[in-house]
Amino acid sequence: MVERKIPSHVAIIMDGNGRWAERRGKERSKGHIEGSKNVEKIATHAFKLGVKTLTLYAFSSENWSRPEKEVRELMRLLKTYLVKFAKKFAKKDVRLVVSGSREELSKDLVDAICECENLSKENKDFTLNIAINYGGRQEIVRAVNNLIKKGEEVTVDSILDNLYTSPFGEPDLIIRTGGEYRISNFLLFQGAYSELYFTDVLWPDFNETELEKALDDFSRRKRRFGGVKNV
Ligand code: FPP
Repeated sequence: MVERKIPSHVAIIMDGNGRWAERRGKERSKGHIEGSKNVEKIATHAFKLGVKTLTLYAFSSENWSRPEKEVRELMRLLKTYLVKFAKKFAKKDVRLVVSGSREELSKDLVDAICECENLSKENKDFTLNIAINYGGRQEIVRAVNNLIKKGEEVTVDSILDNLYTSPFGEPDLIIRTGGEYRISNFLLFQGAYSELYFTDVLWPDFNETELEKALDDFSRRKRRFGGVKNV
């Protein structure tokens, strides 16, 4: 048995909600409802195991091209989740932050995000970072533009400092559920040396045991960050 190493920052591409619903003859939105129920369970377990930051890819900059009804449902679920979070998770010392552009989001959703972020800003133990209207390429462009505006030199470190994730660092482990083997514009810059874990399990079925399997797999990885020594 390899001793379990707990990654400080885990990120998840929660894929497979649509297929989960379709396989049951239900509308895709039912898969998103089921998927959103899974968020609290997995976040609670990850924090219990010692993960400090959990980043979840909830809505990409490219997801606007989905049918209007599906986009509306996802936005409704996100707002409902945030309102619920404000009452519950915030009391458990979890800080909530949202990464992504807010420009295209409704005022209602932006208000809910601001309320959650404000309410939980003093929470120190854990961070739940939800990526909404997020794209990795867009994030890099935004970081470089920020640096240009400030008249600062563009370097790897200065870009890292201007990413949404700068307060909590680079992800150690990126998990993708749903059987696809791609990164889909997620954490492109800060994910340069993340360990990747892919599973066929669809997001609504990804439970505590599946999370532990991913962490056990991570524990067996040899991380060298381009060098020759295991870190
Ligand atoms: C990908 O599955 C999933 C999404 C685009 C949305 C993820 C959203 C949630 C899990 C619910 C809301 C989130 C929070 C934080 C409350 P897909 O629809 O592409 O599935 P498919 O590949 O099977 O079609």
